[in-house]
Formats: sequence, structure tokens, C-alpha cells
Amino acid sequence: MAPIVARTREELNTAINALPGKIALVPTMGALHEGHRSLIGRAGELADSVVVSIFVNPLQFGPNEDLDRYPRTFDADLAICAAEGVAVVFAPTLEVMYPVPNEITISAGRMGTIVEGACRPGHFDGVLTVVMKLFNLVRADCVLFGEKDAQQLAVIRRMVTDLALSIEIVGCPTVREPDGLALSSRNRFLAPAERATALALSHALHAGASAQGPSGARRAARAVLDEAVKSDPPLELDYLVLVDPATFTPVPDTFSGTAVLAVAGKVGSTHLIDNVIVNFPRRDEPA
Ligand code: PAJ
Repeated sequence: MAPIVARTREELNTAINALPGKIALVPTMGALHEGHRSLIGRAGELADSVVVSIFVNPLQFGPNEDLDRYPRTFDADLAICAAEGVAVVFAPTLEVMYPVPNEITISAGRMGTIVEGACRPGHFDGVLTVVMKLFNLVRADCVLFGEKDAQQLAVIRRMVTDLALSIEIVGCPTVREPDGLALSSRNRFLAPAERATALALSHALHAGASAQGPSGARRAARAVLDEAVKSDPPLELDYLVLVDPATFTPVPDTFSGTAVLAVAGKVGSTHLIDNVIVNFPRRDEPA
């Protein structure tokens, strides 16, 4: 069955009030791909009804970022939602989401100023503000987010803790192309040679995850990225960090436990991010 498309708050309320049982929300900016599809599939396993939101949120784009060229593929998105058995697609206009310019917004605090937040000032504040608004509008029992955007997942979990929100956050693994490239709505901007350079991001993470200890992981990943920086077209490296998954602060060389190896860079005019979860056993523990 085709999903109900709700464009306004009233349409959303009517659609949601008719939904049976537990509701799962999958927030997206559209241009849906297999990564989004995996979140929707998981949502269907966890809840009785799935709501997908599609909204390109201007608040999370900086002045020199790609808001204007962000891909908009609503008909194809709707077909994916229909195939996945989504009950409601909430696709509000700008005026519905922001009828008046926001005076009150959510701040990601210090976590919004580090790593990806240092490259994109205000980005995570914009994400949290729209996500909070979507939580309030849809009133879902659980909400699914991809580990692909690991820092986004971390700041959202932190908002739920700090603001005592009654909603369950579910993280879902990153979906990749067979050669390792993490799926992203922005991949469609990559020319073939740029895509070849972009592969260095996942290759670097793989090399890091296969190395010994935190310093070995950083070094191995760095070596792959150093080559990509010299390639044609080059990778413009923004950061490579090994951080605590919850706080996104760097872990020391002596660290044992679970960390996130995260990388970001630009290829041509396309900003790409990726990460892997790495487990460092204690020295006296078997690997
Ligand atoms: P968007 O980039 O459309 O991503 C929507 C959701 O899909 C996010 O939770 C993201 O982490 C997840 N996702 C993207 N690529 C993925 C992949 N390769 N594998 C698994 N999951 C993937 O993230 C946003 O939109 C926005 O910031 C949003 C949360 C909707 C707020 O505007």
C-alpha cells in the first residue's frame, strides 16, 4: 500500500492518530538510498508502524554549503517507502517546519564545536533543533539513526539524556558499496575519478581497524590518507580522529575499549564523512 503523505501538522496528526501500536520514526533529508532503506527495514522490525520524514533542513547547512544543490528525488523516495511498507511519509514544507524564524534553538554545546562540528559551525545545533521538532511532531516510540553519522548519533543520544526525553534511540550499522564506499546522498556528485579518490576514506578506516592499538590505528589510517592527498584529484583531508563514541573526545594511546575512528574530507566540491567502530582489547585480554 502507498504511504499516506502528510504535508502539514494537521495531516500528520490525522495520519498518526490512525496508526496502530508502536511507532518508529526514520528522519531523513530524502534522496533515499540503501542506507536509508536499511533503517526503514529495521524500523519495521521494531515497531508496528513506520513514519519516514523527508525534509532538507536549512538550519543545519552553513552559508557556503550545498543546501541549494542537495538532491531532491521525492517520487523515487516515495516508491522506496511504498516498497518498504512505510505507513506515513511526513514531507513538510519550509513554512510548516519553520512558520516563523526560530528564536529558541537547541545547542549541541561543546560536542557541537569539535571534529565535524569544527568543520561545520552550527551544523549540530541545526540537526538537534529539527530532530527535537520531529520528535515532538511525530511522537514516535523509537527513532532510528545511522552510525554512518556517528557524531550526529552521539549528540542526539546526549540530547535525549540531558533533556530527559522519553524516546528510544536506535543506532544502525553503516551500509557500504561492495568496494567499501559508505552510501551517501552526496555520492551522486562524484565523477568516476573523484569516486576513486573517495575510496581512500573507507580504505583508511579499514587499515586503521586492522592495526594494533590506538597509535597503530591512527598511523595505518593516516598512511592511506597521505597517499590520497597526493592523488589526482586529491583528497582535501579535514580530519582523522580516534574518539570516544559517546563524547567524541580523542582517546589516549593507552586506551582499551570501544572507540570510533572517524574521517572526513572533500573530493572536488563534495564533503564526505565515514567512520568505523574499533575495539581495543586490554593488553592482558586475547584480541
Ligand atoms: P540523511 O543524511 O538523509 O540521513 C538520514 C539517516 O540515514 C541518518 O540517520 C543517517 O545516519 C542515515 N544514513 C545515511 N547514510 C547511511 C549509510 N550509508 N548507512 C546507514 N545509515 C545511513 O542525517 C540526516 O539526514 C539529517 O541530519 C537528519 C537526521 C534527517 C536531520 O535533518
